[in-house]
Amino acid sequence: MLIASLKPRTMGGTTNTGLLIYALARAGYPVSGYDADESLQLAAWERDVSDFPCKVHVADTPSFAETVYPEMDHDRINVVDAGHAENHPDIVDSILEVADLAIVTVSPTNPDYDRLTRPERGTPLAKLIKRSAALRDSGQPPTTVVLLNRCQAGANSPKRFAELLTGGGEDGKLPRWDVLSTRIPRRELIASAVGFPCDKPERKAPYDALVTELRTLGHLPELGVSR
Ligand SMILES: Nc1ncnc2c1ncn2[C@@H]1O[C@H](COP(=O)(O)OP(=O)(O)OP(=O)(O)O)[C@@H](O)[C@H]1O
Ligand SMILES: [Mg+2]
Repeated sequence: MLIASLKPRTMGGTTNTGLLIYALARAGYPVSGYDADESLQLAAWERDVSDFPCKVHVADTPSFAETVYPEMDHDRINVVDAGHAENHPDIVDSILEVADLAIVTVSPTNPDYDRLTRPERGTPLAKLIKRSAALRDSGQPPTTVVLLNRCQAGANSPKRFAELLTGGGEDGKLPRWDVLSTRIPRRELIASAVGFPCDKPERKAPYDALVTELRTLGHLPELGVSR
């Protein structure tokens, strides 16, 4: 299967992608990584540390669906880190054409919520996801979930933004999102994860919870079952 890790702009996407890959590998899934962000930080992370759990392929191309996807081992969980959807909608469009699951990283703050729902420039991510249906074999957009990250312990903001996202905004007129109950906390050891060894407790526990939730929701294959 292919999991697309998406975000409108800088949100903690690469951090979440790398640590999700690490959690999937620890849960026993065969995993491969793809870096579709031209900053190539996920690929550099894999290159620079000894405990990154799998190969990361460079794949920052708007022909992702035609040139990268067919070459994947579809018996693995392939996870692709996409760049800013605002700036690279062509690459994101091509990923959405073939992804089985999209995980959208969003931080529970006003500016990040605005960039997801009502960007001043660029196409809203919800529209990219919706329009992908036209190019997909199923005729439906991929299953999409929002992962809230950089969540301050004890703050009300994760709950408030989760309600706004699931309810379509204050007036209910914006697109509605499925928001995962797993929250990635704001933590120094997660902030400094990209490019450094993965094996720290703080870099594991929230992502183990994420894998458990994805599994419970039926978004991951049974272990040992392909695709
Ligand atoms: N859970 C967290 N707690 C605190 N800080 C975090 C957390 N996750 C990410 N960050 C910080 O957020 C910033 C963005 O993280 P990251 O590089 O993963 O995001 P990105 O969406 O991939 O950005 P880019 O636009 O560069 O691709 C970094 O400064 C990182 O340290
Ligand atoms: Mg990144």
